[in-house]
Amino acid sequence: MSRIKDASLAPSGRKKIEWVRSFMPALTEIEHRFEETKPFAGLNIAISVHLEAKTANLGLVLAKGGAKVSLTGCNPLSTQDDVAAAVAEMGVDTYGIYGVSPQEYEELLAETLSCHPHLIVDDGGDFIQLLGGRCKEYGDRLIGGCEETTTGIHRLVAREREGILPCPMVAVNDAKAKHYYDNRYGTGQSVWTAIMDTTNLIVAGKNVVIAGYGWCGKGAAMRAKGMGANVIVTEVDPFKALEANMDGFRIMTMDEAARIGDIFVTLTGCKDVIVDRHFAVMKDQAVLCNAGHFDCEVAVASLRKMAVHSQERRKNIVGYELADGRTLNVLGEGRLVNLACGMGHPAEIMDMSFAVQALSLAWLAEHRHELETRVYRVPDTIDDEIGRYKLRAMGLTIDRLTPEQEAYLSGWNVDGE
Ligand code: ADE
Repeated sequence: MSRIKDASLAPSGRKKIEWVRSFMPALTEIEHRFEETKPFAGLNIAISVHLEAKTANLGLVLAKGGAKVSLTGCNPLSTQDDVAAAVAEMGVDTYGIYGVSPQEYEELLAETLSCHPHLIVDDGGDFIQLLGGRCKEYGDRLIGGCEETTTGIHRLVAREREGILPCPMVAVNDAKAKHYYDNRYGTGQSVWTAIMDTTNLIVAGKNVVIAGYGWCGKGAAMRAKGMGANVIVTEVDPFKALEANMDGFRIMTMDEAARIGDIFVTLTGCKDVIVDRHFAVMKDQAVLCNAGHFDCEVAVASLRKMAVHSQERRKNIVGYELADGRTLNVLGEGRLVNLACGMGHPAEIMDMSFAVQALSLAWLAEHRHELETRVYRVPDTIDDEIGRYKLRAMGLTIDRLTPEQEAYLSGWNVDGE
């Protein structure tokens, strides 16, 4: 069973899925292995991840491993209706419709969980939130799950601390094969692709304000610099601020940056990063967007109240006109700009992130009888395996330690005496 917008959109969705599959070799190699070993035979897997082509490919790979897969999105504006139609046609129970209200969005997630999953894939923690609340009854078969994002992991750790984690969870975001690439290079590219496509404006010469210098902020700042922007970083962590400074960026508070920024990108994972007092001093025609998981970084609801008039100026851009005549332009309603206004991370990047997901799920299935209800790190063996897959797929070879070098690195007697 599925709930999608329009089944006739499937041919366009299939093309998108076929395209990304050509650039996801690690996942393809895992798929071949899963076809033989069937690690998920007899298991139901529910996935809540941005419902676009790369995610559809993950669902198909898990199905090849013997799972019955149910799929939904993790943000109402990132679902692509044609991809949802295609993946539903390809045998994955799919519950996703672009642009639904928050209530309908939650309904779609609840319907997905009604398969009583053994394993879940969460992106931001919405599944876990439901399984700890109104969908508790659907969690009766849970073996464990994986979490994709930094934000989601913060919440898992808080739940673990309070003893209310519903099942063992693997912190996929924290794997080397995930955050070094996805958060930095994936965000670095996809955020700017989306901003530039949506606005059709130049980045070179602009004052770009990057809020937050975690891995995502580093990527967005690095690419903005590469395109010739004057990059300003705002931070709350002294060491991240120092790092940004030594990477060549100006550091200031948002109160200062608000006055001079042309383009603002929030990537903090926190709330209320850009609020009324900032809107009050921004330049006319400033562009505001968010690339953190939730839409609470730019206070769009307050801006809506402050505005005397608002209008859709281009697709995915609302201009808010203030009483003094200035207009502030918000992209994608303040939701993840790279997915609400773009196609998400490049396929080669999601290849690595979803390879971590696939192998971590297989690890959970294999170890199901030994697991405690806590947050697990991704085993190093999985990280290393994906690193090597990826190098091989890219035709790159690296040096190997000799036995003598290994002994040198792992021992205390450096002279070998
Ligand atoms: N595509 C699917 N999931 C994604 C994510 N978490 N970030 C960017 N692009 C994605």
